[in-house]
Amino acid sequence: MTQKHKKLFIKTWGCQMNVYDSNRMSDILSSLGYKVVDSPVDVDMMILNTCHIREKATDKVFSELGRLKTHKTEKEANGGKMLIAVAGCVAQAEGEFIMERAPFVDMVFGPQTYHELPEMVLKANGNERVVNTEFPTVSKFDHLPDEHTIEGASAYLSIQEGCDKFCTFCVVPYTRGGEYSRTPQEIIAEAHRLQEQGAKEIILLGQNVNAYHGEDGKGKTWGLADLIYKIAEIDGVDRIRYSTSHPRDMDDDLITAHGEVQKLMPFLHLPVQSGSDRILEAMNRKHKASKYLDVIAKLRKVRPEIAFSSDYIIGFPGETEQDFEDSLALAREVGYASCYSFKYSARPGTPAASLQAALVPANIATERLAKFQALINEQQAEFNKTCIGKTLPILFDRKGKKEGQIGGRSEYFQSIFVEGNERLIGNIIDVKITDAFDNSLTGDVVTLG
Ligand code: SAH
Ligand code: SF4
Ligand code: F3S
Repeated sequence: MTQKHKKLFIKTWGCQMNVYDSNRMSDILSSLGYKVVDSPVDVDMMILNTCHIREKATDKVFSELGRLKTHKTEKEANGGKMLIAVAGCVAQAEGEFIMERAPFVDMVFGPQTYHELPEMVLKANGNERVVNTEFPTVSKFDHLPDEHTIEGASAYLSIQEGCDKFCTFCVVPYTRGGEYSRTPQEIIAEAHRLQEQGAKEIILLGQNVNAYHGEDGKGKTWGLADLIYKIAEIDGVDRIRYSTSHPRDMDDDLITAHGEVQKLMPFLHLPVQSGSDRILEAMNRKHKASKYLDVIAKLRKVRPEIAFSSDYIIGFPGETEQDFEDSLALAREVGYASCYSFKYSARPGTPAASLQAALVPANIATERLAKFQALINEQQAEFNKTCIGKTLPILFDRKGKKEGQIGGRSEYFQSIFVEGNERLIGNIIDVKITDAFDNSLTGDVVTLG
């Protein structure tokens, strides 16, 4: 007799940590008989794992809820039951409000309490509505199962959470709470388990991942570099990455590790937010543009082939034409392989939200963003073009959209699609790059003989 699984649909927005969290929620719920499906129709539970980082986040959640509610109504009309949960950073920030405005939502919980899902589900099944947005004193990491959901050959591993930096534009310290580092033992054990389950690449995650400082209980505090050296010793883990870093926490040990650990990929996402010292100060980033360039220069010295990506905010309150030019100049000086840029969005409760009077008019911010993105697109296309003719090791981790196509990532995190057998998925294979597009590469699998 086959056991009937309960169906679980999870929709995830936001950063990689939310992806990690969604996977962990499904790990927890699988012990209660839930299995993830990829359509919300006729499911037993749906979870919206939300992000609060930029504008309209809450509106988006409500409109999605409006759409998904019809599935619940339908199921109930047929005598069934469906639980709807809102999780993640919007849940943390707007818990009670969501409960008031959406009476059909059964559970609301933040990023730090989802390990309590079994109790919450029990209550919700007893028709009790649950709001759980505390910051518990006991870490969720002590209560997560050993079994992991991993997709493909690349696995996320959260090592650090929360942030104490309080950049004036950012909600993260409020939605994720203060900085917390897991112990090195826990992390190393998780890395081994991920490798045993097929991960060839491990991406260490944290809102401020290079601020990691884990106590090993024997009097030693581990930095991110220590962890990287240790994880690099695991046979079968061939690639290591980490995200997201703050320029201020790029210490010498970490920079040295980039030169010494070949498994540490020659690609670093290092957000700077602005090229203007005045704006950096107003953002409370606590470093100057020159310090960012110093870090980049040091990294290039120890690992000449390293490439960079970044985040920039365009139109922070008070940003003048000159400040914006400084951002363009910094991006030109670094020369990125890729880069994200966002129009500033006032987040409720953050210090910068009170700077309404200094807001950059929307049309100017839009113009600047377009100009910035044009520069970045040029840089990215240029970087991709330099790969043509080279043979690059590719970690294949997914099927392509077209039949007979498989997809993967280069060491520089570029997406690549080639004609290839699905059996290659999960392996690192040499590919001769034949063509480069704005956002991806293509080429031929190098066959021996
Ligand atoms: N911890 C990372 C950033 C996390 S948020 C760091 O310190 O860099 C991801 C990105 O979203 C940020 O790098 C920033 O560029 C952007 N972002 C955050 N708050 C924003 C806001 N209020 N408006 C526009 N972009 C924002
Ligand atoms: Fe937000 Fe700044 Fe913390 Fe990054 S460092 S998460 S931008 S407060
Ligand atoms: Fe978004 Fe929360 Fe991540 S606000 S970016 S999901 S930390």
